[in-house]
Amino acid sequence: MGVGGDDVICLNRLSKTFRVGFWGKKVTAVDQVSLAVRRGEVFGFLGPNGAGKTTTLKMLMGLIYPTSGTATIFGYPIGTPQAKARLGFLPESPYFYDYLTGREFLRFYGHLFGLRGAWLERRVDELLEVVGMAHARDLQLRKFSKGMLQRVGIAQALINDPELVVLDEPMSGLDPIGRKEVRDLILRLKESGKTVLFSSHILHDAELLCDRVAMIMKGRLVACGHVSDLLAGGATQEAELLVERLLPEALERMRSFAKKVVLQGEQVMVVLASQQDVDRAIDLVRSVKGKVVSLTPQKASLEDLFIREAKGAREPVEVAA
Ligand SMILES: Nc1ncnc2c1ncn2[C@@H]1O[C@H](COP(=O)(O)OP(=O)(O)OP(=O)(O)O)[C@@H](O)[C@H]1O
Ligand SMILES: [Mg+2]
Repeated sequence: MGVGGDDVICLNRLSKTFRVGFWGKKVTAVDQVSLAVRRGEVFGFLGPNGAGKTTTLKMLMGLIYPTSGTATIFGYPIGTPQAKARLGFLPESPYFYDYLTGREFLRFYGHLFGLRGAWLERRVDELLEVVGMAHARDLQLRKFSKGMLQRVGIAQALINDPELVVLDEPMSGLDPIGRKEVRDLILRLKESGKTVLFSSHILHDAELLCDRVAMIMKGRLVACGHVSDLLAGGATQEAELLVERLLPEALERMRSFAKKVVLQGEQVMVVLASQQDVDRAIDLVRSVKGKVVSLTPQKASLEDLFIREAKGAREPVEVAA
């Protein structure tokens, strides 16, 4: 049924403009975003605060209407019951009925999907187990920590055993252990054949998890593709060389071509921009009988790409009413 073969989600120049303030000034939160999420992949939707991630996800969920453009889920236009039937969603700030226990909360969402009886009870217990919350099944949500709420929220998104799971900032507010657990959970969903789309500004998590990512800044898509391809595009040849026993004269020569030279007590840290400069620096150290302590190639990260794109990003798209 899907449009474009294996595409589970397809956005075609999707845009959203809000009117804000007394004068009803237009703010374009999402600006002609086109992308596709393929069946079975973990797709990261990345961008800084205010980039338009939540707005885009809300449009996909049918919670707000696009100003222009279209999108489909499993080939059905967003907002239609068919588009919503096979997906689960974790909102950014889920409104939790905090007097409910973990079990009651999941039961409540199960009822919304028409689940009942022993089957629902089994499903609730199974999900609490999956997200590592079995111990808190009878505890009220208001006694949950942020990490516990996030987990029970993810369990909620899985109650109808959806084929597509959309998570808005699933790792936010979690400590490193909690983040690793959510990452593992997402990988298990992928292993069980589900498609996962999640938004995040924690780039390291996305780097570890995603098959592909999209980067959005000020409403515009600035990059989209496999993490390795995106990084290769901006790969740095830089290397960090740590040396000892460098006399002032050698240090001066090093400064003449190195990108950066930092004195660290007995040692000198030198940042070099190319392989040629690395060779030159090592020759220099050897010629003055210095000592090479370490040589570390600088790996390009999503963070580098993110910062580079952010610097080049345009000013907010604002149009007077
Ligand atoms: N209901 C609204 N009315 C007016 N402006 C809005 C509304 N919702 C979002 N915006 C604006 O749209 C832009 C994008 O917001 P959005 O919440 O989609 O960003 P985000 O990428 O999810 O950010 P964060 O990382 O902080 O969650 C922001 O400038 C925001 O102020
Ligand atoms: Mg958001």
